[in-house]
Amino acid sequence: MTTFAEPAKDLQLPAEVQDLLFREARTANSFSDEPVTDEQVRAIYELVKWAPTSMNTQPLRALVLRTEQARRRLLPLMSEGNRAKTASAPLTVILAADVDFHEHIPQVFPHNPGVKDLFAEESGRVEFSKLNSLLQVGYFIIGVRAAGLAAGPMTGFDAAAVDREFFGDGNRRSLVVVNVGKPGENPWFDRLPRLDFEQVVETL
Ligand SMILES: Cc1cc2nc3c(=O)[nH]c(=O)nc-3n(C[C@H](O)[C@H](O)[C@H](O)COP(=O)(O)O)c2cc1C
Repeated sequence: MTTFAEPAKDLQLPAEVQDLLFREARTANSFSDEPVTDEQVRAIYELVKWAPTSMNTQPLRALVLRTEQARRRLLPLMSEGNRAKTASAPLTVILAADVDFHEHIPQVFPHNPGVKDLFAEESGRVEFSKLNSLLQVGYFIIGVRAAGLAAGPMTGFDAAAVDREFFGDGNRRSLVVVNVGKPGENPWFDRLPRLDFEQVVETL
């Protein structure tokens, strides 16, 4: 197991949970046969649904591909280098932004349902839904890790083709495809360096 600098003492999260969610969590590139259950998928959603989004709009939608048949439809639309790992995963999730998220505003923003009218034009909803969905994608990856599973997020795929194949002319626009499962053989690339605090954080 990799050894790390002493876990940050200024965090409230227990050190082993810091490891599970962050320090020891890796992007998996191969997966074992061990299935991911529907209950695990639900547990992940029930955790990550608490992610903050602008006006609580929650535009992320997830299409879970479990069957061989569903996977066969996706594989040719993945970039070459992403096909084998996607074929090996017990579960692959297409994470998409719902550009018609505003239809749910009376449910998710009940104290001010009229803000729905701010989103009457689709052109005003596309970037908004993308920004907030991508925020939710980050939470989804952490949720997968919280379930003791590994995530393999990918943007190397033909998004327009995925939308046509799985969403037709509908309101969902694919953003990230995520493989989910227990790591398989040689699952990790070398850990790549992260930027230092001083390179990223400026305090005025
Ligand atoms: C939004 C996103 C898109 C990514 N797309 C791909 C991809 O298409 N193919 C791939 O092999 N890895 C992809 N990755 C994996 C990253 O290269 C990987 O998460 C990063 O190098 C960190 O690796 P680590 O978690 O093992 O430290 C993607 C990651 C993210 C978050």
